[in-house]
Amino acid sequence: MTLFTNISKLHTFHGVYGKEGRNPKVSDFGSIEDGTMLVDRKGVIVWVGRRQDFLRFSKTKSASWRSKIKRVSLGNAVVLPAFAECHTHLLYAGSRADEFERRNRGDSYLDIQASGGGIRATVRATEAMSEKNQVSLLIERLRSLAQQGATTVEIKTGYASTIASELRALNLLFKLQQRTAKMRLPRVVITCLAAHSIPDGETETTWLKKVEALLPELKRVGARLDIFIEKGAFSLSAGRQLLKKAVDQEISVVIHADQLSRTGGTELGCELEARSVDHVIEADSADILKLSRSKTVAVLLPAADLYTRLPFPNARAMIDSGVRVALATDHNPGTSPGLDLALVGVLARTAMQMTAPEVFAAYTVNAACALGFESKLGVLHPGFFGDFICLQKEASLADLFYEIGPTRSHAAVKKVWRAGQRIF
Ligand code: NIG
Ligand code: FE
Repeated sequence: MTLFTNISKLHTFHGVYGKEGRNPKVSDFGSIEDGTMLVDRKGVIVWVGRRQDFLRFSKTKSASWRSKIKRVSLGNAVVLPAFAECHTHLLYAGSRADEFERRNRGDSYLDIQASGGGIRATVRATEAMSEKNQVSLLIERLRSLAQQGATTVEIKTGYASTIASELRALNLLFKLQQRTAKMRLPRVVITCLAAHSIPDGETETTWLKKVEALLPELKRVGARLDIFIEKGAFSLSAGRQLLKKAVDQEISVVIHADQLSRTGGTELGCELEARSVDHVIEADSADILKLSRSKTVAVLLPAADLYTRLPFPNARAMIDSGVRVALATDHNPGTSPGLDLALVGVLARTAMQMTAPEVFAAYTVNAACALGFESKLGVLHPGFFGDFICLQKEASLADLFYEIGPTRSHAAVKKVWRAGQRIF
């Protein structure tokens, strides 16, 4: 067991968790002065609280119990729960910088897609790269997220032109997932986004039939299912059919919903109890009301909105009506090439007027919930994983999601632990 001591302020986020991440305030941070945290050999938190109270607690235990404790001093630093990055397309090769220029000159995302670019350009680049090189790129990207405080990262497939290639991507992620703890990388959540674009030679119907046949493989690797419901991608009715089949097989589902137009994806997500509906830029007030009454998390991706010059989603209306809101980078080569959690938080604060507690809740309790880890991650409490961030000397929560830039974005993050193991 490891006893983490010398914590000047331990922000447990216990109140945020108690409110299911809805409408979070500073008073929900559950902050403890002079804190201590005990994590067992499996990485699970056993005890959290004030140092004096731990002394009293440990006196009730046997000498042999006490002798198993290894102490780690955190140097009088501030500690908070680690972040979860709940929406990424990290598995890809190549760049689409040319399309960024085209969009800025007036071509739309759908124009570019229709002329053979967009998602399919990344499919070609990814399929041309060896698996070994794909894995090296992935590891580099995961390390960069770990340095920023993320200990759990979702990775979507979706850059494949055949089912065989999609299955290779799922297997590659599954193999990496098994190795992350040993490699001191964030844990990985796998999401199958085979229904991202319709490959050449396929129709919506023929392709989705093949995706449906892949569902047992998702079950085998523990993957979730995602679908891009949008004009030029997949229709609401076809999406509903596929997602229902997945739900029947107890596969968690998420949706790229209402990003470019209002297609009804948000409503469908609530109906199917999707883990999350993502983008939700065009969600209307009826959708927001449905979300607020559901467990489904709204995942907002403002870095993608910046790059695509789309409107930002109405975070204020969502949070004020009690929706669970999470934030993520949506990292992908087309619409969100950055890998910067601070930029996402800064955009949330400036362009969507989210408060600091709302941003923290979005990257911890609510992102954990979007990933199905609501009783394991996002809060520092007995029974949860010992996943936490230790800040630089003198730094406080106010130094996070504040500065952006080559060296400043994550300067406040000093050390990062996943399940009691240091990964940065
Ligand atoms: O989340 N909206 C669809 N999918 C991605 C973009 C992927 C791509 O363009 O390569 C998104 O923005
Ligand atoms: Fe996405």
